[in-house]
Amino acid sequence: MKPSAGITETGEFLMTQRDFTAIAGMLMAEAGISLSGNKANLVYSRLAKRLRLLGLGNFSEYCRLVESPTGAGERQNMVAALTTNVTRFYREPHHFEHLKTNILPELINRVKQGRAARLWSAACSSGQEPYSIALTLLSLLPDAVKYDIRILATDIDANMLAAGAAGIYETSLLDAVPNPLRSRWFSSPRDGRQQIADEARALVKFRRLNLIGNWPMRGTFDVIFCRNVVIYFENDTQEKIWSRITPLLAPDGALYIGHSERVSGPAEAGLRSDGITIYRPRAARREQP
Ligand SMILES: C[S@@+](CC[C@H](N)C(=O)[O-])C[C@H]1O[C@@H](n2cnc3c(N)ncnc32)[C@H](O)[C@@H]1O
Repeated sequence: MKPSAGITETGEFLMTQRDFTAIAGMLMAEAGISLSGNKANLVYSRLAKRLRLLGLGNFSEYCRLVESPTGAGERQNMVAALTTNVTRFYREPHHFEHLKTNILPELINRVKQGRAARLWSAACSSGQEPYSIALTLLSLLPDAVKYDIRILATDIDANMLAAGAAGIYETSLLDAVPNPLRSRWFSSPRDGRQQIADEARALVKFRRLNLIGNWPMRGTFDVIFCRNVVIYFENDTQEKIWSRITPLLAPDGALYIGHSERVSGPAEAGLRSDGITIYRPRAARREQP
């Protein structure tokens, strides 16, 4: 029998079509992420270091490991290696301007009257998104920690959550943070890195949550950022996510989505546009007498 042919350009480890299909299937089952057939080189380059670290000889051995019951931990590492974690402070700045002008003033009034405010960064990666939300809030309410305000920051990738909770960033990544906020809410540079202040970190709670799994939270959110994640899902999964998110949005809340995304499926009817990639719930229709 002929040996199976490798399907990638580089050749330290053999990866067959069968290996690629098995890995793509596991990523879909674990995270809902859809990998097209032309992503073999990407899978190879992201996972080759895992094979090296584990002392494995080829991708078939790796597949056997991650498919076995004892490979559950490595399956998480595989998902983490294959997710795209690109993010930055104040990404899509018009979202933060809208938040500051249209949403936060009313929320701040509410928390000053003793009520709660809940915000959610779903798929928060290494924390730049929830901290941009926190900094926008702190720019209006520097003593925000005194009030009942919580920013929930969730992601599937435990490494990203740990980075977010530490809140330490290369100084070069802070360019987009407006200057007064940067000097007030970040430590002085040390070894080319700066840490976000405790007051900002205290506002944000990092938790692991798989968007295609169970969502344990109860109650609604005044603000939901779900940006640049559903693009990795197939259309029906995207529709399901939007249908689960919209009931969690408070009646006067706001949903921010990624620049190349749109709310699709049944959820769309319950929302109205309030700017580019910004949605608000449609007012509930009154019962006719
Ligand atoms: C490109 S980043 C977007 C980060 C941030 N929202 C932004 O727009 O800058 C996508 C994030 O989605 C996360 N992710 C992918 N699949 C997920 C899933 N099924 N559940 C939760 N998070 C997921 C990845 O780990 C990654 O951190």
